[in-house]
Amino acid sequence: MVVSRKTQVVIVGAGPAGLFLGHLLTSDGIDNIVIERRSRSHVEARVRAGVIEHGVVQMLVEAGAGERLTREGLVHHGVHMWFDGQRHRIPLSDLADGRTITVYGQQELVKDLIALRLASGAPLEFDAEVVEVDGLTGTAPSLVYERDGERVRVEGDYVAGCDGSLGVANRAAPIFQRTERTYPFAWLGIIAQAAPANEELVYARHPRGFALYSMRSPTISRLYLGVGAHETLEEWPDDRIWEELHVRLATEGSAGVNEGPILERSIAGLRNLVVSPMRYGRLMLAGDAAHIVPPTGAKGMNAALSDVRDLYRALSAIYRDRDQRLLDGYSDLALERTWRAEEFSTYMTQMLHPYPHDPFESEVQLTRLRQVFANPAIATVLSRNYVDLNSL
Ligand code: FAD
Ligand code: DHB
Repeated sequence: MVVSRKTQVVIVGAGPAGLFLGHLLTSDGIDNIVIERRSRSHVEARVRAGVIEHGVVQMLVEAGAGERLTREGLVHHGVHMWFDGQRHRIPLSDLADGRTITVYGQQELVKDLIALRLASGAPLEFDAEVVEVDGLTGTAPSLVYERDGERVRVEGDYVAGCDGSLGVANRAAPIFQRTERTYPFAWLGIIAQAAPANEELVYARHPRGFALYSMRSPTISRLYLGVGAHETLEEWPDDRIWEELHVRLATEGSAGVNEGPILERSIAGLRNLVVSPMRYGRLMLAGDAAHIVPPTGAKGMNAALSDVRDLYRALSAIYRDRDQRLLDGYSDLALERTWRAEEFSTYMTQMLHPYPHDPFESEVQLTRLRQVFANPAIATVLSRNYVDLNSL
């Protein structure tokens, strides 16, 4: 052991959760360090989520992290669902008290949070992998990270596990229980240099599979195809991707899909995971470290940032007022919200991804979809959950 450091809150992971927690704590005068396994360029280039809920946007703005988001984010008042060869629109804002979603790339928010961090001068270590976490039930938990062959021990009052589902934190406590579900699907996602053909997002259920039309700017499209859980990018050359997108997004009166050079591509499997409880002694889990949702509801990043809001409030109450109550309630509060996000994401996933060779499931899915447009009460519940589940 060569070096040793001390702080108040040790944060593992520089995704949206870890970076936002670091920002809130630093703004409140609470010392913290953020430790990230990957390089800065890797973290800033990682293309993922795109939809930010109404209340989460407000929270980012209030925290001073929403300046570019409000300038460049695309504010949407509705979303489309296409099935049975027909286009249907859900007027989200009309059904959810005027609230909206904002389309803004996760990696843009991550860049904004990294820039704020660097400007504050607070420590943020890249290329530093946490390999051990100790002393969680005592008053001085610590961890060890490795960088360039050097081992560094960091001691703090609390450890925040914001290191995603494959990190160290959610395996660090004997009491953590995992509840999981997998699907026979994955999403193949691309970023293309092409003007979006639709102004709003389109979730499409076609007999050949799911497709999603999203965007990042007036010149950049973000598109997804539902594929088999074990399919690989090698099986999906550009021509096949575009052909399938054209087929699945074809409807009467549709402008179709605008093609362009594919700038980025990846495949991610669909799954649910909840780790419970979300606290063990002085270790608290937040974001993907505690829960994964299938992406169909666009909830993952929103849930991660909402955990962080609650965790920050709990830590702030301890340092400001020596009040432990919010921290004692953190796991229950976050899990209640988590299960609502799991339920909604599962509902959206199971309504929009046709199961091959299952005509019964197919009729159930189509009936569910038709009900959204036949029954305003169902459309209202869907809209409120889609635009603001984490603030309800
Ligand atoms: P992460 O972003 O995973 O960050 C964890 C960090 O910890 C990583 O940088 C990792 O390198 C680091 N780390 C891991 N282990 C260690 C270690 N041992 N030591 C140090 N560092 C470590 N969510 C939405 O809200 N809306 C969407 O539209 C949406 N779409 C999505 C589409 C796709 C294709 C995918 C894959 C995800 C999508 N999500 C969406 C989910 C969203 O991206 C995640 O929920 C979000 O990234 C969670 O943030 P996080 O900070 O908790 O975890
Ligand atoms: C995007 C991602 C999602 O998971 C989703 O449900 C909607 C949009 C996106 O990347 O834009």
